[in-house]
Amino acid sequence: MTEMLTADASPEKRLFISLLTRDISMVAAFLDLVDNSINAAVAPMSSELETAKNYQKVLVNDDVQPTVDIRLKLTTEEIQINDTAPGISATTAAEHVFKFGRASGEPHENDRLSVYGIGLKRAMFKLGNKIRIISDHIEGGFELQLNVREWASDVCQPWGLEISPRAPVDARRCGTSITIGELYDDTVRRLDDGVFEGQLIGAISRTYAFYLAKFVKILVNDKQVEGINIQLGSNYTSEVLTIGDVTCSITAGIAVPEGGSFRDRSSGWFVFCNGRAVISADKTPLTGWSGSGLPIFQPKHRPFLGTVFFVARNAEELPWTTTKAGINEDSLLWQETKRQMISVGRGVVSYLDRRYTDEGTEVASKDLREVAGNKISALAAAASKKKKFEPPKRKPPKNIRIQYDAAVGDVERIKEYLQKPGMGGAEVGRYTFRYFLRNEVGDD
Ligand SMILES: Nc1ncnc2c1ncn2[C@@H]1O[C@H](COP(=O)(O)OP(=O)(O)O)[C@@H](O)[C@H]1O
Ligand SMILES: [Mg+2]
Repeated sequence: MTEMLTADASPEKRLFISLLTRDISMVAAFLDLVDNSINAAVAPMSSELETAKNYQKVLVNDDVQPTVDIRLKLTTEEIQINDTAPGISATTAAEHVFKFGRASGEPHENDRLSVYGIGLKRAMFKLGNKIRIISDHIEGGFELQLNVREWASDVCQPWGLEISPRAPVDARRCGTSITIGELYDDTVRRLDDGVFEGQLIGAISRTYAFYLAKFVKILVNDKQVEGINIQLGSNYTSEVLTIGDVTCSITAGIAVPEGGSFRDRSSGWFVFCNGRAVISADKTPLTGWSGSGLPIFQPKHRPFLGTVFFVARNAEELPWTTTKAGINEDSLLWQETKRQMISVGRGVVSYLDRRYTDEGTEVASKDLREVAGNKISALAAAASKKKKFEPPKRKPPKNIRIQYDAAVGDVERIKEYLQKPGMGGAEVGRYTFRYFLRNEVGDD
């Protein structure tokens, strides 16, 4: 019998860092950090966020108001994100926070936006070489100082990071501060391109509309970000599904026009996972358009607004990709949902199709506003109960065509009687019809 050998399958830090950071955009990396702060901010009330219905309840509850601040500061020297969430204990930091990937059996019942166990590491490795994290927690927090290049050049196994414990603090002084310095050239160039801040603010406003309304304030370079407020007419279809442990509510209706017209950015499908937008205003085959159930999206479809609101206690069951910027299209859950989205959306789409051929192209006309109904927040509708879009009743036609055969001799006799030999058959028909109407039925 030959002796067994063990082949070396240990990971390489350099490869890990490069793999993790390559496929994520800079905006998505920032959102990963914001996800963590929001996840910590909502952890104390996670038991009230377990189904789509729960989320809607929170949304309409005026007693729930934002309590946590998340501040991002971006300069070409340094990036900082500070939150006033409950922080990270030294024990959690030592056992869990810096692991690459979530271990099976790790508790996750309180996590809503923390999923795969890589976001923090990916974001910090993407942006710069010098990392400092300080977290204060009621059980005692920690501090980490890391020089990524030095760490990566140290090849000893297993991997570890040195952290120093910090004394417990009072609940009001908890929070986490992450500072990234020695920014990489790519990062500096993006931060300095004149558009990055606006893109980040736009992405935060779309991605966290639900959380901005109820749980957190987010400031980018001291500017407070408002969540987008997309509104839907109250005449919409809504379907509620439960697929395994995931609840999902799908809604489609007519958007409320902004300033008289329907905007591209509030048209199409919006998909949320645990309250966080994953895709916005989608009009592609991903959500059924272009022949995969719904037609190719055209300007006449601009008033279409659909939302999909997935909720799961275990966030890993949701169909988001690891960057949370896309959908895992092949998942059974998404395929089943997409079938339902098409069936929910079809009534609205076929109404918009019909309307176009009958009444032209202008999109914010009176009939459309009447059909749409009173406006409500698309987020509130997103988690509502079953309902059906009612297209307007078709108006009866104003005219009907009458055609019949008459003996040539009879028509000639009428022409003679009227002394109008040049009269055509159709005119004889109209004349006799009008005569009967006037003399027998009476004028209207
Ligand atoms: N600012 C923060 N406050 C509290 N917990 C945090 C914070 N940042 C990260 N964490 C926690 O550290 C762990 C690792 O984060 P991350 O690498 O982003 O993975 P995950 O995908 O689980 O969020 C997660 O449990 C996350 O919730
Ligand atoms: Mg995370």
